[in-house]
Amino acid sequence: MTDPVSRRIEELRKQIDDHNVRYYIYDSPTVSDAEYDVLMRELESLEAAHGEIIPPESPTQRVGAAPQSELAAVRHRMPMLSLANAMDEEELRAFDERVHRALESDAVIEYVAEPKLDGVAVELVYEDGRFVQGSTRGDGVTGEDITLNLRTIRAIPMALRPLAGIPRLLEVRGEVFMHRDEFEALNRRRAEAGEPLFANPRNSAAGSLRQLDPSVTASRPLRIYCYAPGEIEGLTLADQREFLEILPKWGLPVNLEYHLCRGIAQVTEVYHELEARRESLPYDIDGLVVKLNDFSLQSELGERSRSPRWAIAGKFKARQVTTIIEDIEASVGRTGAVTPIAHLRPVNVSGVTVSRATLHNQDEIDRKDVRIGDTVLVQRAGEVIPEVVKVITEKRPRGVKPYRLPTTCPVCGHEIYRPPDEAVARCVNLVCPAQVQGRFQHFVSKGAMDIDGLGEKLVAQLVAAGKVKSVADIYNLAYDDLVNLERMGHKSTENLLAAIEASKETSFARLVYALGIRNVGEHLARVLERAFNGSVEHFLSTSGDDLEAINEVGPIVADGIVRFIRDESNVAVIRAILEAGVHVTPPEATGVAVKVLAGQTFVFTGTLEHITRQEAEALVERLGGRASSSVSKKTSYVVAGTGAGSKLEKAKVLGVAVLGEEGFLELVGRSRL
Ligand code: IVH
Repeated sequence: MTDPVSRRIEELRKQIDDHNVRYYIYDSPTVSDAEYDVLMRELESLEAAHGEIIPPESPTQRVGAAPQSELAAVRHRMPMLSLANAMDEEELRAFDERVHRALESDAVIEYVAEPKLDGVAVELVYEDGRFVQGSTRGDGVTGEDITLNLRTIRAIPMALRPLAGIPRLLEVRGEVFMHRDEFEALNRRRAEAGEPLFANPRNSAAGSLRQLDPSVTASRPLRIYCYAPGEIEGLTLADQREFLEILPKWGLPVNLEYHLCRGIAQVTEVYHELEARRESLPYDIDGLVVKLNDFSLQSELGERSRSPRWAIAGKFKARQVTTIIEDIEASVGRTGAVTPIAHLRPVNVSGVTVSRATLHNQDEIDRKDVRIGDTVLVQRAGEVIPEVVKVITEKRPRGVKPYRLPTTCPVCGHEIYRPPDEAVARCVNLVCPAQVQGRFQHFVSKGAMDIDGLGEKLVAQLVAAGKVKSVADIYNLAYDDLVNLERMGHKSTENLLAAIEASKETSFARLVYALGIRNVGEHLARVLERAFNGSVEHFLSTSGDDLEAINEVGPIVADGIVRFIRDESNVAVIRAILEAGVHVTPPEATGVAVKVLAGQTFVFTGTLEHITRQEAEALVERLGGRASSSVSKKTSYVVAGTGAGSKLEKAKVLGVAVLGEEGFLELVGRSRL
């Protein structure tokens, strides 16, 4: 096979496989989807024209098998076990104590901690490097043959890359799952096609894998991460870490978010850190899997009936619970957007009592068919307000009617307008009290001017009494304006006046954020502060082009800002605020003026000893750099503390410079603390 066409075919197959590895393992594609498709099409047409037999490992051969009439049973060579659960930190420590007792050792034990993916467990079998069979877990002993469906998952290599010696037999277990955004896009496509929606990514992955027609599976955005060995012949591995390191060399995806932990304290640290971060991951996880690293210690401990003694799943708190919708309120925000808010019978969701959930807009209400009186599944997603995931229609009381948003503003009675191509309906009355009120509320909030004691009720009274028309009027409030209001007295008035006074000493970022310019959140306000060096005057006289020249400011944001500062009444308010004595402290009056780290991005991983991660990140930002939580080609430095795991791995793979803690402190010119 040395003719140019054959060579090109080989080259294309290799390139496509490489792109899959970069995309599915390292999350760092180097081509767009369209460019990838061009390669695929070229390969398809060359293969067709060349007329040679196309090997089953070619990327073009993933789909194409005819539908089956049933899924055959497959017996696993080694049973696929499940995991015992630890419900909290204490139970993780108890697990560690059991391990110590069983091993009769008080030496520090190494564990590997991995995110517990919420998907579907599968087994892949490679013989002499070729993917020959894949199956579901089933009852652990016998599963279903889903080889043809698994072949359609691009993240699964059809042949192992020979970067590491290839074992005669390799069985690996892993989880098939979907990214949340890809799942949502799938559901949107289904909604448009009038097909029933999946409740969550896991159900969707499970349903997709058990299709009789592989072309259906091929149309679903499935991914896989491998995490456990089955039977392996022709290669001996010492521990889980070695296993997780060799898999990507073969082209098998591993979730790089794993940590090698020395001792249970590092495990519990990872457990809390990951739980705090779970909503910012692109996929659903429901816990942390903790495994004894050493394979020989694993076999020393052995198994109970269905789960190994050497591993445990540290579960996170449930983020989805059911409750009842008692009412739906149309709430008018400070931009006039009318958002339907569900009033819920209060429930505890991952440790927080929840009584309201957003229903987003009328389209979402229609899509989920949410009605007052329904029993619903609600979930908390990170910082944002909880949302209604789905209705449990079986529990719907008789006679409840579909819900429609009002056509007039519930606050001012003005017409509500929904532009034809937008999902959001708005009250278009600029002086609608809800918007005025909302703007005030935002202005005084914590991250903004931070005026303690100016709560919702008080603002409402001040607005209603005509004491404040614009936010600047807050700074002209006198004792007599406040003391006679409801729930106010001498002491609370004094306190409030003191809080207003204290808020006058502020920063550019707080002030600009407080103004409530569309798309200008706290982070962007800080970006602007840096760009304008804290000068409100420069900011007010800026242009769209100047704004777009700032890293992180795109045309939409720039447009919103320009519209805001070109509006005379807005400028008048800003001037009034400054005249009332609000003073903007220049950024870094402390003297660090040299932005030595400008344009550089840092990722911190592992535990730092002389400085906390927050301090280190703040330091980077103060010196003009950026701190990020994920490693990419654009990362300038990864700073690795003790126990650094996957991010360090990824840095090495991508060729990103790695610094130790001391190297970092040296770089920023600070002696050790
Ligand atoms: S190891 C004996 N690692 O959790 C080891 N399982 O309750 C068993 N899972 O069936 C599996 N992420 O579906 C392992 N990093 C991970 C995992 C993981 C998710 C699932 C898997 C398994 C279930 C056990």
